[in-house]
Amino acid sequence: MCGIVGYIGENQATEVILEGLQKLEYRGYDSSGVAIHNTKGLVVKKMAGRLSNLISSIEKDPINGNLGIGHTRWATHGVPSDENAHPHTNKAGTIAVVHNGIIENYMTLKKELMEKGYEFKSDTDTEIVVNLLDMYYEGDLLKAVFKAVERLRGAYALGIISSNNPDELIAVRKESPLILGIGEGELFVASDIPAILNRTRRVIYLENGDIVRLSREGYTIYDSEKHVVQREVNEILWDVEAATKDGFDHFMIKEIYQQPSAIKDTLFRRLDDNGDIYLENINIDKKYLDSINKIYVVACGTAYHAGLVGKHVLEKFLEVPVIAEIASEFRYGNNFVDDKTLMIVISQSGETADTLAALRLAKAKGARILSITNVVGSSVARESDDIFYTWAGPEIAVASTKAYTTQLVAFYMMALNFGKLKGTLDEKLYNDYLQELKEISEKVGYTLKKVEDLAKEVANKVKDKRSLFYIGRGLDYYTAMEGALKLKEISYIQAEAFAAGELKHGTIALIEEDTPVIAIATQQEMYEKMVSNIKEVKARGAYTIGITSINNADLENVCDKVIYIEDTISNYMPLLSAIFLQLLAYYTAVVKGNDVDKPRNLAKSVTVE
Ligand code: M6R
Repeated sequence: MCGIVGYIGENQATEVILEGLQKLEYRGYDSSGVAIHNTKGLVVKKMAGRLSNLISSIEKDPINGNLGIGHTRWATHGVPSDENAHPHTNKAGTIAVVHNGIIENYMTLKKELMEKGYEFKSDTDTEIVVNLLDMYYEGDLLKAVFKAVERLRGAYALGIISSNNPDELIAVRKESPLILGIGEGELFVASDIPAILNRTRRVIYLENGDIVRLSREGYTIYDSEKHVVQREVNEILWDVEAATKDGFDHFMIKEIYQQPSAIKDTLFRRLDDNGDIYLENINIDKKYLDSINKIYVVACGTAYHAGLVGKHVLEKFLEVPVIAEIASEFRYGNNFVDDKTLMIVISQSGETADTLAALRLAKAKGARILSITNVVGSSVARESDDIFYTWAGPEIAVASTKAYTTQLVAFYMMALNFGKLKGTLDEKLYNDYLQELKEISEKVGYTLKKVEDLAKEVANKVKDKRSLFYIGRGLDYYTAMEGALKLKEISYIQAEAFAAGELKHGTIALIEEDTPVIAIATQQEMYEKMVSNIKEVKARGAYTIGITSINNADLENVCDKVIYIEDTISNYMPLLSAIFLQLLAYYTAVVKGNDVDKPRNLAKSVTVE
């Protein structure tokens, strides 16, 4: 976790760095800091709390200089505090380091350094890096970095400056993301592109193990063997405007409303001249599909919920067993991954550490990796054999919305395409499904209009509740899981999802007078059973809210409120039912006065395991 920005050039480094950090707050925002080189040496300012605190403090007491590093933190080692905020410096205050990731062997190194007389001011793993550098430093900063890096285990991106080397900035990338930005007479490093997009569009995605030396003359990249290497310079075509709110109150609501166009982009750009599915970046053919005996679908959080829907449709259209697993648990199972396994990983950011770890494990066992990600050039994308990019545009709000629905579209498209290739999905069904998918973005748009006011109304009803239940059967159960997660993470209300048939095996004991139960009942074949399950909770005093497209008096009779969404084929219903649940979570958080886009204790991109 955490965001890094580094700058060397002729402009004021503080200005460039703070502007960049603002764009990286999605990576963590519990403390922040900068280290700037000027005539006084290294000037460090850092503090706990939101970045805005640091900005106000620097406005009152500006720091001049045109070389510097900055950081926005999401705590891993040590609580959010001034001491634990980055940059960290050596005792003499001559070397400063910012770090994203985790140094796994920091305890051993800390012990060794303490035996050598080094003292530590913070609880962070980062402080061992700066002290290692101090130990190895003999006038050449790059050499010291080479030596220090050899001692480090774990995932990290580092930005390093020294007052004794006023014309250079060294950055290191190992597992954690880091890019190099190339401007006119200035250079940048950052954890992500939006941080520098106002300044340059020319970017290098640093490779794992790369160390880059930025100087006023240019840059040199060294690979993990310390050989000088050339890396491709990419021109970024998307606009920084895409990462601003466009008049909406929050990024989350903007992103909810972007869903019709995000779905359209994801789908229509993959149709050939005949309107048929064409999956670029995926080289899977019939022979390969016939050769596999299972598919794993692995991801975290919302992406995992998309994976569950994916499992359902892939099994149906491909007639192959599909196992869905939470990435952080994947390695502990007795999994059966081999060279006859296709592993599909899903990650909006493409940088989620748990997902990457599962990907690498499966790859080592011979699996072919197909990733669904929203970030071009992300680690997940680069380590995959095949890639499905969800063209949802940058997702800034911590709560994932448009990434989720475009991930669903990715699964629908792949299941249709693979089923057709393999011959397990007949032509007529394929055509009907594809035709309906082409119309789905409009139905998402209609649903948004139809349910927004209802979501506000229900939000007011549930805002002060201690807990809520979400129930559903089949695909609706997966949607219930996603709805509950959304509500929890931004409204801070305890919300749990249950398979509707499972309630009577224990959970129903929790239902009391006025407990809200959100029942998703979009699956025709399970409809009657759902109505019975809603009756069971209603009889115990629950306040019941039904979500359906099915016009049937039975639901009206058992629900205090029925939310009607647009109708589509049952496999696509998760795309439409998610809309109401996203809006409900959003308006509940708004009415409670919560920080919707940056909920407490969370960060957008979870780059620690
Ligand atoms: O970037 P990823 O898709 O790999 O992220 C996975 C989860 O951390 C993410 O979906 C998380 O659950 C969201 N905050 C949910 O809204």
